[in-house]
Amino acid sequence: MIEEEVKRVFKGEIIGREIIFFPLTSSTNDKAMEIAEKLKNPEGIVLVADAQERGRGRLGRKWVSPPGVNLYFTVLLTPPFPPKEASLLTLMSALAVASAIKEYTGLNATLKWPNDILIGGKKLGGILLEMRSEMQRIIFVAIGIGVNVNLTLDMLPEDIRGLSTSLREEKGEPIDRVRLLRHILSSLQYYYKILLGRDKKVLIDEWLRLDSTLGNKVSVQTPGSIISGIAEGIDDDGALILRLPSGATEKVYGGDVTILKGSS
Ligand code: BTN
Repeated sequence: MIEEEVKRVFKGEIIGREIIFFPLTSSTNDKAMEIAEKLKNPEGIVLVADAQERGRGRLGRKWVSPPGVNLYFTVLLTPPFPPKEASLLTLMSALAVASAIKEYTGLNATLKWPNDILIGGKKLGGILLEMRSEMQRIIFVAIGIGVNVNLTLDMLPEDIRGLSTSLREEKGEPIDRVRLLRHILSSLQYYYKILLGRDKKVLIDEWLRLDSTLGNKVSVQTPGSIISGIAEGIDDDGALILRLPSGATEKVYGGDVTILKGSS
């Protein structure tokens, strides 16, 4: 990645007013949180790294972040929403990434609630959203996005190799990371404006169109328990709606979804 190219990758009305590039950093999310704490208005700043020493995934997992192959970046936003709507921002970001991948590569990217981007059922990217908030309002969010672009599977630890993929693996040819980043940032701004216009329904409907979970029997590992049921939809705040075996519905606000085998 050439620093000058990355810095000019996208200048939108909201996103990309400043782009900070690191050949190597600890984690773009950590850097973004640090920077945002110091600024009055961090909205639209993007931090991009070629490699991360301590790339983080959700639920305390590690995000494999070797140099020269993938996209690792964080976008800072200051949405005028209450903290309970933060999960909509995760859905928005995953939707923006999947749409940009479809548009730029033609590959059929799908979504798995809440934050996974998949191709052919294998994980290719994810979102790590961290925020600073008061009771009633979000102060800022750091939307961390990782996409396996030109990674080859031998770069991954063996235990996740079978569950993961990259755009190069799927397309059979290398993909231009900077051009893809431009598409993703433009797509993020597009969907963010939809959310700012309070058009949650448009966003959720589009999300559901790319969803690989809907209608399937799933089990969700939540912090306290495992819940199984049929994934029926997403509510207005971005929670997953499950139909339980008893016929009742339950909303799940966070957790790890496994699509159970045998469902179509
Ligand atoms: C997940 O699926 O668990 C989320 C992965 C998020 C990875 C990205 S890479 C850029 C940003 N910096 C990090 O340390 N993590 C996110």
